Amino acid sequence: MTRVFISGDMASVALGADAVAHAFAAAGCEVVRTGSWGLFSIEPLVEVETGDGRIGFGPVAPGDVAAVLDGSHANRLGDVAALPFFEGQQRFTFARVGIINPLSLDDYGTHGGWRGLDAARLLDPQAVVDAVQASGLRGRGGAGFPTGIKWQTVLSAVDDEKFIVCNADEGDSGTFADRMLMEGDPFCLIEGMAIAGHAVGAGHGYIYIRSEYPFAINVMREAIRLSAARIAPFTLEVRVGAGAYVCGEETALLDSIEGKRGQVRAKPPLPAIKGLFGKPTVINNVLSLAAVPFILAHGPEAYAAIGFGRSRGTMPVQIAGNVKHGGLYEVGFGITLGELVNEIGGGTASGRPVRAVQVGGPLGAYLPPSQFHLPFDYETFTAAGALIGHAGITVFDDSVDMAHMARFAMEFCAIESCGKCTPCRIGSTRGVEVMDRIIAARDSVKSSVRAELIEALPFTSEKSGPSTRSGRMGEGYLNKALYSRAPARIDETLAAQTALLRDLADTMKYGSLCALGGFTPYPVLSALDHFPEDFGAPAPLSEAAE
Ligand SMILES: Cc1cc2nc3c(=O)[nH]c(=O)nc-3n(C[C@H](O)[C@H](O)[C@H](O)COP(=O)(O)O)c2cc1C
Ligand code: SF4
Repeated sequence: MTRVFISGDMASVALGADAVAHAFAAAGCEVVRTGSWGLFSIEPLVEVETGDGRIGFGPVAPGDVAAVLDGSHANRLGDVAALPFFEGQQRFTFARVGIINPLSLDDYGTHGGWRGLDAARLLDPQAVVDAVQASGLRGRGGAGFPTGIKWQTVLSAVDDEKFIVCNADEGDSGTFADRMLMEGDPFCLIEGMAIAGHAVGAGHGYIYIRSEYPFAINVMREAIRLSAARIAPFTLEVRVGAGAYVCGEETALLDSIEGKRGQVRAKPPLPAIKGLFGKPTVINNVLSLAAVPFILAHGPEAYAAIGFGRSRGTMPVQIAGNVKHGGLYEVGFGITLGELVNEIGGGTASGRPVRAVQVGGPLGAYLPPSQFHLPFDYETFTAAGALIGHAGITVFDDSVDMAHMARFAMEFCAIESCGKCTPCRIGSTRGVEVMDRIIAARDSVKSSVRAELIEALPFTSEKSGPSTRSGRMGEGYLNKALYSRAPARIDETLAAQTALLRDLADTMKYGSLCALGGFTPYPVLSALDHFPEDFGAPAPLSEAAE
């Protein structure tokens, strides 16, 4: 019987993988459901087992069974691992995802699983914490805090009970790595949490997953059941969150697990000292915990050998939005933003020029192509007024209106605010109002000069209307063209309102209790600084010259 491998990942299923799997099963094939390799332009992907290894075909439709099985299908990819998208990756954390049956303990064991836990249990707890420290691993949930230091604090805390909490809330826009890891290699996360339990002296752990991730919830629950004996005496359970962005913030998450409304706690005390149910608690992101088995199995030096500056190891980067090759790309820190967007992502799906990328979810900065030289590294991004966060990159083409994106950031904060502190609760609502005034004033200036300035444009194709492939002139491009030629026409309201916006952003940045209010100024101010023309100001000279 021919064996085929088809992803059961939620994104693959959304692209039709279930129907394809049924068609192959109906044709008498043995169908093994795997996680996804992470390149969605080739999904639904079917890999056929042959004497020469697995041969990939994708995308495949349910009616393609015969052509795939006789090898004549036009979308024959060959060895998937050898495709350019995968060849350049350094898959430490995602090494098994797309390859194994996620719920097969045999598969996990034969592909290197449990080696980290076995190695850790031969060491005393302090040595395990030391290994994590030596690896240079920093939290992948957003803040980049050194994982080893957090574990050391919990190890040193004296209490009768301690907990390990995995933050699988993954609320950032354009991110899906936690979900893919949980669906594609759940035992890896379980192993990482069991190692953490041994390292700090915790006997029980919780995995907090948002309700929008039903596949991950089911896979994790089943994987916990299957591996219970392997990780004993450590025990685990899944808790399902209702999907509030703020419940990804670690202290709000702890409140949510405790059955309370998810609201941010004032720190100190740190969760490492007084966390879940008042006990010392390690709280880490999925990717931080899933990196640990590799570190213990291969040694901290192997992990630390990859990276850039103080950002060690690999980062599973998620490329999404208006991009040709969206997906997951695990690579050592140091790769440039431009390589990720243009070379690996292949530029925009619309074929228009990239105008902006937002890195790090809804609280991340918008960066123009002039920043594409930046290497992916926590410190470099901070110095550039940006953040890496959970490494989601959302790509926008030149039809994006950055003033609307700044308004969206304020509105997102207003909707998701937990309401505990004034700068965020009130400031975000005032921010939406300021943005509404800026957009209204800009649009009134724009409509009064639009026709005459289009006429003054040097490009005849622009004068006659759209010149781009999609047939619509990008508003961003138009703003740049208009305002770089009409600085004198800028309305006074705009100047006053942008000053007010900066003032408000300052209050939110320095006065908010947590990063939801404190980081909302990043997308707002980066949009204003890099794309001033969309706020009614002249474009910066370097940008205007592009
Ligand atoms: C509003 C807000 C949302 C957050 N959402 C997440 C999330 O979805 N997943 C996550 O791992 N960390 C999230 N964080 C960061 C966590 O508070 C915390 O830093 C992280 O879980 C610690 O784990 P790490 O050290 O492994 O990154 C969020 C923070 C804030 C302020
Ligand atoms: S900044 Fe303040 S109001 Fe906003 S989510 Fe954080 S604690 Fe809540």
